[in-house]
Amino acid sequence: MPHHDQYGSLPNRCNMSQNKCTQDYRSPSEKCRNHNPDQHSQTIGPDGPVLLQDTILHETLDTFVHEKMIERAVHTKGYGAFGCFTAYQSMRPYTKASFLQRPGQVTYTFSRFSFAVSTKGTPDTSRNVRGFSTKFYTDSGVFDLLCNHIPVFLVRDAMKFPTAIKSLSPSASNNLPNPLAFWKFVAETPEAAHFVTLLYSDLGTLASFRCMRTYGVNTYVWENEKGVRRYVKYHWIPSCQECTLTRQEAAKLAGENPNIAGEELYNTLAGGETYQYELCVQFMNMDEACSLSFDPLDDTKVWDQEQFPLTRVGCLTLDRNVDNYQQQVEKAAFSPANLIDGIQLSADKMLQGRSFVYWDAQRRRIGPDFRDIPVNHEEKWSPDKMVSSGNGACISGTVMRSEIEKEDNFTQAGEHYLSLCQEARDHLVDNIASELYSAPEHIRNCVLSYLSAANQEYGARVQECMYWYQKQL
Ligand code: HEM
Repeated sequence: MPHHDQYGSLPNRCNMSQNKCTQDYRSPSEKCRNHNPDQHSQTIGPDGPVLLQDTILHETLDTFVHEKMIERAVHTKGYGAFGCFTAYQSMRPYTKASFLQRPGQVTYTFSRFSFAVSTKGTPDTSRNVRGFSTKFYTDSGVFDLLCNHIPVFLVRDAMKFPTAIKSLSPSASNNLPNPLAFWKFVAETPEAAHFVTLLYSDLGTLASFRCMRTYGVNTYVWENEKGVRRYVKYHWIPSCQECTLTRQEAAKLAGENPNIAGEELYNTLAGGETYQYELCVQFMNMDEACSLSFDPLDDTKVWDQEQFPLTRVGCLTLDRNVDNYQQQVEKAAFSPANLIDGIQLSADKMLQGRSFVYWDAQRRRIGPDFRDIPVNHEEKWSPDKMVSSGNGACISGTVMRSEIEKEDNFTQAGEHYLSLCQEARDHLVDNIASELYSAPEHIRNCVLSYLSAANQEYGARVQECMYWYQKQL
């Protein structure tokens, strides 16, 4: 017996054939329906079981299940854009790097913005280290420059990286945020004091990539044609003034628009405007290293800009949105070891640890042919195309596992505290105290001892602010 659909009409097939009616009596849902037979599984009769031989069904489901890629282990949430880099001047006295030999030289690029400890749903305004990676498609190969928006890292040895990242990640037992794990890690890691002072200032919460300054963090080496090698630190300086958010503003925006930074990037480029950043470098002669009070290969330190002034290298303009997020952003495979002649790794322990793990991560998440993906531009790659770092250097010593000699964990944290205006100090103190007050006493005391070693006032103010939070309980 024919049944009525929810719109009260009879199935159109009978009407049309029997009465030769020209009017279309089909229900709205029937009119919109896709009548392609491939939209149906292959069955025995209309209600019968589905055949195992239905390869179209298998491929449809299996393609869906497999098209979601394995996520990056860190820097999971990200956005991308294409652009070009224009050199201001010849850097020939410092490096053989082919894309920096002539003023006005233009190199096409792809950049990815990211959030270091994130899931795909992490709000763009969360307290986080933001990443900014750029591929330079040069005529002598692909050079990757990976930068973070916090100029220092929280550990100086790659061996500690997994524990550091786990301490910033959701709890392994219930997947909920776990700030206590982070403060426990900080208590055991005095070298994190400088990083904490930066991340817990309002710099840790930004709403926009347009005004984001970023840093190479690790120390690299540039070599010129004469074989002269210098240490190098990278800086990207945005054309817009840096603008930070308070913790409260960041939390409000996280609810209102968790993708605010990505949306702004996309809409700006779609509207024909651009994002611009100037690449600057700091140089250090290798023999200067021993006269410093800190180790220039220690990524918990910055280099004083009066002693090691910024040299302007060129300008990056991001002007084109991606049109295939999966292929261009998710499958982009950045590595600090994607180097070209004239640019090398230094002996920075963190950088050495990073030198192989990125490709390992990419083999797993993209597959062994990750270099063949168009955005990676390395179709004819082979290991002998790689740049060797350190050729010609003479190194001798005892094999060991040890801390570096010049630790100096607190001086720069204190200097940074003093460089902040009163309001910025107030926010930093409050941001730390609002989390740390609920940690066990031995953790609180340990962290306070580091902050006080950085600056007496800094430690005392965090302590006082924690009392205030405790009294509210
Ligand atoms: C030993 C320390 C570190 C390890 C083991 C490590 C490991 C990783 C891994 C596995 C990825 C994901 C790679 C992928 O799946 O494509 C990644 C991404 C990234 N890392 Fe690191 N990392 C370390 C330190 C750093 C530091 C110091 C920086 C500072 C510049 C940094 C910046 C980045 C950026 C910007 C990305 C995102 C790349 C992209 O957009 O695809 N990492 N890191």
